[in-house]
Amino acid sequence: VHMEPIHRAVLVEETIDALALQRGMRVCDGTVGAGGHASLIVERIMPSGCFTGIDRDEYMVEYTRQRLSRIYPQHQDGVSIIRASYADIVRIAGEAQGCGQYDRVLIDLGFSSWHIDASGKGFSFQKNEPLDMRYDTTQEQTAAQIVNSSSEAQLADLIWGMGEDRNARRIARGIVEARRKERIMTTERLARVIADTVPRRGRLHPATKTFQALRIAVNDELGELASFLESVRAVIAPEGRVAVISFHSLEDRMVKNAFRLWEKEGAHRVHKKPVIASRKEQKENPRSRSAKLRVIEIRR
Ligand SMILES: C[S@@+](CC[C@H](N)C(=O)[O-])C[C@H]1O[C@@H](n2cnc3c(N)ncnc32)[C@H](O)[C@@H]1O
Repeated sequence: VHMEPIHRAVLVEETIDALALQRGMRVCDGTVGAGGHASLIVERIMPSGCFTGIDRDEYMVEYTRQRLSRIYPQHQDGVSIIRASYADIVRIAGEAQGCGQYDRVLIDLGFSSWHIDASGKGFSFQKNEPLDMRYDTTQEQTAAQIVNSSSEAQLADLIWGMGEDRNARRIARGIVEARRKERIMTTERLARVIADTVPRRGRLHPATKTFQALRIAVNDELGELASFLESVRAVIAPEGRVAVISFHSLEDRMVKNAFRLWEKEGAHRVHKKPVIASRKEQKENPRSRSAKLRVIEIRR
């Protein structure tokens, strides 16, 4: 594992500000990734704090475990990086590596730049790679399996439901016709099948939303977020905060609705509107353009 930055974290200052961190706090970063946010969190809560970093991707866990222990060799005891889903935060909080309760929980959803640039797992059609898309490679289901074994109707529902692509039906039919000749096993082939099925309009490649939909489906990203939102309050300390960075409307809608419900039960939103990236950040890091940060303080 080398230590060059493998992911450019978004909304870093905004997130750190909104978390209002203090020494001694217990913090969980549920999608620790390459540790962009985590490294700043650890700096602010140690030496007396407790930090749990979670990621589903083994590579990320290994990378960030090493990165943090190099930056903060003195804080090894208070810092745990574990391979799991943030949806299991309640169980993790109670385990030996957890912190019992958390004063702050952050999740920064989706994939990292490393997944696109270097993972070899087929997250993007910019590179020709096997259609995998699993964060957690111990999981069975891959993108290739979904593409080659779902029915046409299932594919159409998936591309519409998780990609919001108006051409979902046509794309599903194109995939089913193409796979009769030969199974679709690579990003390049899938992108070509889709491009041959629907005409390109505007800047977006016609396969963009199908790739998003497959990634969300393979990793059950909406299901994981839903379980998290249903359970996380059980491990939030009084006056604790939950921060979520989302990257598309499907996720943001779920977060917005959950926070609205929590507000009715006494929680307090930290910002009136979701925080978005500054112009400067949007220019420098295109990934930040779709990012929305919502933060809520739980009061009981
Ligand atoms: C946008 S990146 C996080 C980047 C991180 N904040 C940083 O500063 O480097 C999202 C990360 O979440 C991980 N991930 C996706 N779904 C997850 C889940 N259900 N539980 C835990 N980690 C997950 C991915 O493997 C990826 O590393």
